[in-house]
Amino acid sequence: MRIGILGTGALAAALGESWAGAGHDVAIGGRSRGRTEKLAERLGDNVLAVAPREAVIGRDAVLLAVSWDGVEDMLGSVGASEGVLEGMPLIDPTNAVTHGIGTLLTEPGESMAGRIAGLAPGARVVKAFHLFPAGQWASPPGGGRSRVAVAMCGDDARALRIVGELVRDVGGIPATLGTLDRVRQLEEVAGFVIGLAFAGFDPSSAVPHIPSTDRPADSQRQ
Ligand SMILES: NC(=O)c1ccc[n+]([C@@H]2O[C@H](COP(=O)([O-])OP(=O)(O)OC[C@H]3O[C@@H](n4cnc5c(N)ncnc54)[C@H](OP(=O)(O)O)[C@@H]3O)[C@@H](O)[C@H]2O)c1
Repeated sequence: MRIGILGTGALAAALGESWAGAGHDVAIGGRSRGRTEKLAERLGDNVLAVAPREAVIGRDAVLLAVSWDGVEDMLGSVGASEGVLEGMPLIDPTNAVTHGIGTLLTEPGESMAGRIAGLAPGARVVKAFHLFPAGQWASPPGGGRSRVAVAMCGDDARALRIVGELVRDVGGIPATLGTLDRVRQLEEVAGFVIGLAFAGFDPSSAVPHIPSTDRPADSQRQ
């Protein structure tokens, strides 16, 4: 696939490296030309440094890997309000939470994915990759990562399928919770996980362990 990544931070680096390693063409567009070139060079041959707007044109999917409070600027700089992202699977991994505490910074009833959908008319927003630390997706030198389920929400079946493939390519199992109507639940879960982790608890020990059942072939449920 041709993947665009907006942002040059920890998540852009980890997913960019793993997707490039899986054979995808990756174009990175950050607001700093210098940081973008440095990251693309570090990630290797399949990775290009481009301007943000170029990172979203002609791609099969775009990852919006910027801080939650930079989303509006970044979408503005690619021309999202003009419909540039129309039809594009747009992955939203953002967490608008208070650092170390986990309370949501969005308005009551609002979600980041919904805000992004409003700023990028026509984009097929999929919430994904927001729950695990970036290191989960970095290629460990010895190979083999633990397989984790990546909870996702989205309204568009094709976009969910494409993002599901990208989840598999980094060793995850795509798990669709539902449409964007439910996305605030996913965003709250990130706050729950962050809150417990910073309080010194293993968040996975705070939920019941319920073994997976046989899933349909594409591992996705609506
Ligand atoms: N890192 C993780 O473990 C992790 C896990 C799950 C989800 N996430 C989410 O993924 C997103 C990226 O996280 P990260 O850890 O990669 O963050 P990061 O390392 O802090 O990088 C943030 C990126 O956002 C860019 N940015 C900030 N404000 C901007 C603005 N006004 N306009 C354009 N670009 C702007 C930064 O550009 P500059 O470098 O120029 O400042 C940088 O490229 C965040 O929303 C985060 O909540 C992160």
